[in-house]
Amino acid sequence: MKEQLKRLKQEFQTALEQAGDSKTLEELKVAYLGKKGRLSGLMAELKSIPPQDKAAAGKGINDLKQSLQAGLEAKTKAFAQAEQARALDAEWIDVTLNPADRGLGAFHPVSLIQRRLEGLFTAMGFQILDGPHIETEHYNFEALNIPAHHPARDMQDTFYFTDGHLLRTQTSTIQIRGMEYLKPPLRIIASGKVFRCERADASHDSCFHQIEGMMVDEDISVAHLIYFMKTMLTEIFEKEVKVRLRPGYFPFVEPGFELEISCLICDGKGCSVCKRVGWLELLGCGMVHPSVLRSGGIDPQRYSGFAFGVGLDRLAMMKYAISDIRELHNGGLGFMRDFTLPADLAFRR
Ligand code: PHE
Repeated sequence: MKEQLKRLKQEFQTALEQAGDSKTLEELKVAYLGKKGRLSGLMAELKSIPPQDKAAAGKGINDLKQSLQAGLEAKTKAFAQAEQARALDAEWIDVTLNPADRGLGAFHPVSLIQRRLEGLFTAMGFQILDGPHIETEHYNFEALNIPAHHPARDMQDTFYFTDGHLLRTQTSTIQIRGMEYLKPPLRIIASGKVFRCERADASHDSCFHQIEGMMVDEDISVAHLIYFMKTMLTEIFEKEVKVRLRPGYFPFVEPGFELEISCLICDGKGCSVCKRVGWLELLGCGMVHPSVLRSGGIDPQRYSGFAFGVGLDRLAMMKYAISDIRELHNGGLGFMRDFTLPADLAFRR
């Protein structure tokens, strides 16, 4: 019996030393100390031992049992400690430190352009106005010289509510609101989201941003319009840009123009961006139509004015060479990080 106990102890020691995880420990426990384990086997053998040896053998088995239990416990504890150390190591945080590089917040490229233009125009005596996204047909169309059923409505299809309201298709609505609110002479700019029933692609989205400008005074002419447009574009692109006006149809201006700039990529020589013509269509503008002035309660005999509307997204895309408008709208932080910060710095003076 003694021999048996000794061998069992040795076997157990070797197995215990080799055990690499707590699952193996569990298996050892079952194999040695379990109901049908090796020790129970020895206990059963006690029966066949001569009475005078029984007490010593029983004690031997008990001692062995205790020593096995102690060995298992020690190793189980060691495993738990190692596991805890590993976890502490991996999940370690220094609560006295500032959060690791959360990054400085920065303005979205569209906001950068908007703020820069607001700064420029307010410096030139313009007032910043705002208007609602949800509009009436009156402000979005009728007062802007686009009566119901006029084909020009098709140029700007939008989303209608069942009660006759709609999502504004252009910031030109604020021309009317501005004229109602201010008496001439007036200089206003207004920017914000506009909506159109548009299939999204690289240069279209159903929601985008515009900035609108309007100046009404006595003797305002196309020369004023050109001056302010050139000033605006030089501010944005930070260099002298060549512009040209081509006739363009917008029911609320007469004459109306499409303003084009000489391509900034090829300097007007012709490249794939400007489709080899050297010029890029950038914005709509013109002299405010007399009936629009009248809608705003202003006498067209005495006053004249110019107005323009330009896509802020379009300007941001040109300034930062962004080829897909959806990048500006999908909230992807990776894309924003690529250039928002340098752009922000570039805009700080
Ligand atoms: N509202 C026009 C558009 O969205 C742009 C525009 C504004 C044209 C003002 C002329 C004058 O296309």
